[in-house]
This record gives sequence, structure tokens and C-alpha cells, in this order.
Amino acid sequence: MQEQIKNIQTLEELQALYTETFGKNGTMTARLKEMKNLDNDARAELNKENTTLRELFKMRQSELENAAMMAGLKKQKLDVSLNPEPENAGTLHPLTHSLADISGILESFGYEMWTGPEIEDDWHNFTALNTPVYHPARDMQDTFFLPNGNVMRTQTSAIQIRSMEKKGAPIKMFGIGATYRKEIDATHSPMFHQIEGLYIDKDITMSNLIGDVQEFLKRFFEMDNVELRIRPSYFPFTEPSIEIDMKWNGNKWLELMGSGMVHPNVLSNCGINPDEYQGFAFGFGWDRLAMLKYGLNDIRKFYDGDVRWLESAGF
Ligand code: DAH
Repeated sequence: MQEQIKNIQTLEELQALYTETFGKNGTMTARLKEMKNLDNDARAELNKENTTLRELFKMRQSELENAAMMAGLKKQKLDVSLNPEPENAGTLHPLTHSLADISGILESFGYEMWTGPEIEDDWHNFTALNTPVYHPARDMQDTFFLPNGNVMRTQTSAIQIRSMEKKGAPIKMFGIGATYRKEIDATHSPMFHQIEGLYIDKDITMSNLIGDVQEFLKRFFEMDNVELRIRPSYFPFTEPSIEIDMKWNGNKWLELMGSGMVHPNVLSNCGINPDEYQGFAFGFGWDRLAMLKYGLNDIRKFYDGDVRWLESAGF
């Protein structure tokens, strides 16, 4: 019996043998019932056998339980020597990267960074920019109007108005931020970003403008030389107005920005005397600049928040 207990391999078998021995109809139970018929020595012998067997059962039970637990642990074992999953550290968004580059360059030229509200009033987004309600140029921009007459800022030009109202002249600033228009395709997103430059002083001319823009582009794109093409254009807030194109990959002209000498009406609207001060403004797409620099072709990807895209774009 003792050997039998020691050799049992499962808790179920052990339980069965225990019942056979100590259960209501068990062999030991029966023998204990007959104990009264035994002499003292035989009683002592039986008592001892009874205790020994119970202890053996207990021991084997705990052995088998232990083994079962160890087997369970082995199955779910953690290999602490495995290399950890690489940590998913965040990276800077391409727009953040390019903002650091853009602001670094413009600030080194003495331009001061400004921001403004994305919900603008009619005055700062249009009227002060020499674009009154009846002006056809308002149609150039598919504006999101709010019920109270405010708009989602359609152009960072609104920031130049705010800066001139606040600081007056002379002023050398750039504004940067989100802008909104009702358009969407691979190169247009209803929310996009613009940069606006403004330099007003007593003797600022268009050659200052072209020099700064050229130097800016050279540094931003890390090119030795940047070839520009200046085309006459029209914006209500500049007179004369130009558009600046840039030679790209040695053969293609890219339209980069609108620009011009700030219209005297705009200066007056901001409390600056146009007979005393003059200067230039320029505005262009921050997203577009980042797309060109990093070779990206779908503006919408900037706003998907897809880390896989960021990684595949090299960020
Ligand atoms: N605000 C214009 C636009 O959104 C861009 C622009 C053109 C800005 C000429 C300027 C400028 O400051 O002088 O299309």
C-alpha cells in the first residue's frame, strides 16, 4: 500500500485510492471498525498504520499538487533574457521640423515670430487687407463662415494686420499658423498652414524682398543657388503684386508664393502713415514647403496621424 501511494502519478488516482481506503466503505475504515476485537499490540499496530498511511497520502498529494503547479508555471514561463520590444519613441512631425527650420532662418534675418487667432473677424481676414465686402477677391478663397460673421482664418495675412495694429512701424515680422478653406485633394487640405512675412520701414523696396526670399529659400532647401522668377500678379493688399517661382530640379518652375509691396490702404488701416512708411509682404504654404523639402506628395497625410506613414517618410 505504501509503495502504491508513492507511485501514484495523478491527483485523481490518489483521490480514488484514498476513498477506497478511508471512505465510508474503505478498507481501513472497515478495519478500524473491528479494532475493538484486537488485542492491545494489534491495536497499536493498526493505529500506527492508519497514521502512516494518512501522512503518506497527504505527502503524495502535496507532491502532486506541486508538480502540477510547476508544470503550469513552465507553460507560461517568461523568458527574461529576450530582447525587449523596441521602445516606440515619438518623432517630430515634418511640419514641426520645418517650422524649426523656417523660424530659425527668418529670425536670423531679424523677423519676429507672431501668431494669431484661427477664428478671425472680417476686419483682420478681409477688410483691413483692402478686401471690402463687395471685393471680387473674396471669391478667390472658399471661406468657412461662422454664424456670427466671423470666419475660419483663410490666410495668415490676418496676422500681419494684427501685428501692425499692435506694434506700428517699423516692423519686421513673420506670422505662421493654420488656415482654412473649403477644398480638398492631394495638394489641398481644408486645413493647411501658411507663413506670412512683413517688413515695413522707411526705405524698404522690392529688392529687399527678393533678396530675403532668395536667401531664405537657399537656406531652407540647403541649395547653393536658388533661381527665382518674378511674375506680375494681383492681390488686393499689395501694389504692385508679384508671384515668385523657384527653379526646381534644374528644369521646372514651381509657384511658391504671393508677394508685393504692401498697399497704402492696408498701412492706413493699421494706423501707419503710407507717406512715411512702405514695405513688402509675402505669403506661402508651410505644408507645401515641407512637402517639397521632404519629397512628400499628399498634403492630407500630414493630418492622418498615421505613425507608419511618418516612419516610411523617414521621420
Ligand atoms: N494671402 C495670400 C493667399 O493666401 C498670399 C499672399 C499674397 C500673402 C501676397 C501676402 C502677399 O502677404 O503679399 O493666397
